Amino acid sequence: MSASGHGPIGTGLPADGEPFLEALRGMARGFMESRAFLTALELDVFTGVGRGGTAAEVAQRIGTDARGTAALLHHLAAAGLLAKEGGIFRSIPAARRYLDRGSPECVRDGFLHSLHLWDRWSGLTGSVRNGLPAPRDGKCGPAESTETFIAAMHQNASARAPHLVHGVGTGGVRRMLDVGGGSGAYSIAFAKDNPVLRAEVLDREDVVPIAARHAAEAGVADRVTTRVGDMCADTFGFGYDLILLSAVCHMFGPDDNADIVRRAATALAPGGRLVVHDFVLDADMAGPRPATLFVLNMLVNTERGGNYSAEQYAAWMTAAGLVDVAHDPLPGPMSIVVGRRLQHGETRRSSPPPSAS
Ligand SMILES: C[S@@+](CC[C@H](N)C(=O)[O-])C[C@H]1O[C@@H](n2cnc3c(N)ncnc32)[C@H](O)[C@@H]1O
Repeated sequence: MSASGHGPIGTGLPADGEPFLEALRGMARGFMESRAFLTALELDVFTGVGRGGTAAEVAQRIGTDARGTAALLHHLAAAGLLAKEGGIFRSIPAARRYLDRGSPECVRDGFLHSLHLWDRWSGLTGSVRNGLPAPRDGKCGPAESTETFIAAMHQNASARAPHLVHGVGTGGVRRMLDVGGGSGAYSIAFAKDNPVLRAEVLDREDVVPIAARHAAEAGVADRVTTRVGDMCADTFGFGYDLILLSAVCHMFGPDDNADIVRRAATALAPGGRLVVHDFVLDADMAGPRPATLFVLNMLVNTERGGNYSAEQYAAWMTAAGLVDVAHDPLPGPMSIVVGRRLQHGETRRSSPPPSAS
């Protein structure tokens, strides 16, 4: 026990007695808040509430039961997302801005990925029992659309891009490859930061048109281009100053990642950098909490995915001939691990463990 009466340092869990039991009750029922919000998104309640209405009017607009809708609207009011006055429900201004499909800033599509995750996570017990992803036989919900998945990636990436650009720096970068680049949000942010930088988003056939659309909307379509490819098999080309593996390695097992890192390293120009941007585990794999939670997300979603420690990334990068491997935690839950290809004529010194800056 720590001196503060809390459990293991950093968990915030009370050590014992009634406070500990209360924390357990909170953990057991935490899903209820989440499910209420997800159901509101699934039924598009915030668009249905629109400029205001009684529970019966909202139920009619969204095609739901009056009693069920009243229960949900009252909870959303208690949660602060709606206001109720004289029997009329209205979205608070921020909910109207971000959750009403009539708003140009609506982010509902990005959240729909969490609805899909709810289905997948319903299979967690089975995945822990048998080590396999949650079944895709319809019992854990329908398959997710590419648009919804990439919308969610875009929402996260747009929020994190300033930290990544700042952490990596774009000085001296002329050619960048964004492997599994998804919506292209990071490539777009790098291109906007450096007017001579050209980025290529490599992704699946059904994803690259989405990246191309975002690049056009951002006004950088001339410098952010796309390439259809399979990162698990293709050669990546050559001469890149920067290769980004953002939220990619967690989809795969250690052997696939060692191979992706090896092929990426050979595609770098001398002095070029390989950047892994992902959740990075502590060396003992028992933290940080967002990363351990995400390992479970990969358990229910993938055959072999997970998160890795800075030491594991450093081992793959060093085996691929990269030097100066450094781990840099960014603001928020993600980190970068960066390795550099040797310059012509430069010799490799013995490599220390990854430095944390
Ligand atoms: C989790 S998303 C990350 C997207 C983006 N890099 C980001 O950080 O927001 C993983 C991306 O990898 C792509 N992907 C998955 N397997 C792939 C493969 N074998 N070859 C190319 N792209 C792949 C997916 O289509 C998706 O865009």
